[in-house]
Amino acid sequence: MVNKLTILKLGGSVVTKKSRPLTFDANSVRNLSNVVKKFKEPLIIVHGAGSFGHYYAKRYRISDKPTKSTKHVVKIRDSMQLLNQKIIKIFHENHVNTFSFSPTSMYNNKKIPIDWKKILKKSISLNLIPVTFGDVLIANDGFYIHSGDLIVHDLCKLLNPKRVIFASNIDGIYQNPEDVSSLIPIINNNKNNLKFSKLHYDVTGGIKTKINQSLKIANLGIDVQITNGLNIKNLSKALNGEHVGTLFVGDNV
Ligand code: IPE
Repeated sequence: MVNKLTILKLGGSVVTKKSRPLTFDANSVRNLSNVVKKFKEPLIIVHGAGSFGHYYAKRYRISDKPTKSTKHVVKIRDSMQLLNQKIIKIFHENHVNTFSFSPTSMYNNKKIPIDWKKILKKSISLNLIPVTFGDVLIANDGFYIHSGDLIVHDLCKLLNPKRVIFASNIDGIYQNPEDVSSLIPIINNNKNNLKFSKLHYDVTGGIKTKINQSLKIANLGIDVQITNGLNIKNLSKALNGEHVGTLFVGDNV
């Protein structure tokens, strides 16, 4: 069962309106729930923070470095719970059996304990779609932000899915973000086919991290693709194994 598993990361850019603080994108989430409804294979969803968690994280300068700033951490956490509830509500209205797992309860000092393998497998075998999200977590040295992408990586190590799809608001990774014809179909481990200028990294923010994270997952022998979650046809194709965005090819392939 588990080797048929797909993990879908819904980036903050497809569940919120990133340019406006605390703005949920109900239409997009409804469309996404339609795609998920038609997908009949085992699935886990991880969602990002967008203009909810990222808004407070930026405002209070909370990052992946440990902090004891409880007052600020509480704000981030509340916003993520609110976003998660909004997403789950729409899935349920559309009769998609998502089941939310709080990341704070899944993690113990930066790791997902092995017992979660059984819990998640059991949930999937009961036809539930486990959902979790990037959040502020607590570890021995304080609170820190753990992104949805890192959760996907941790879940991959735990469950060894066959495929990971990152749904973002872009069709894939571009050589030049301003030129739609420069979509890179395949990125492999030596990254020779990438010629980004430093500026591109800055302009596109998390692109470098996203590429490294995707390659790390691909190196586990798992298919990874970045595609556009606002283009539901493409997202549906990607879930079913078609190459529509940027594919990552790791060492083990
Ligand atoms: C960030 O998660 C979590 C918080 C800021 C609390 P992600 O990094 O996965 O969120 P997106 O997808 O970039 O919005």
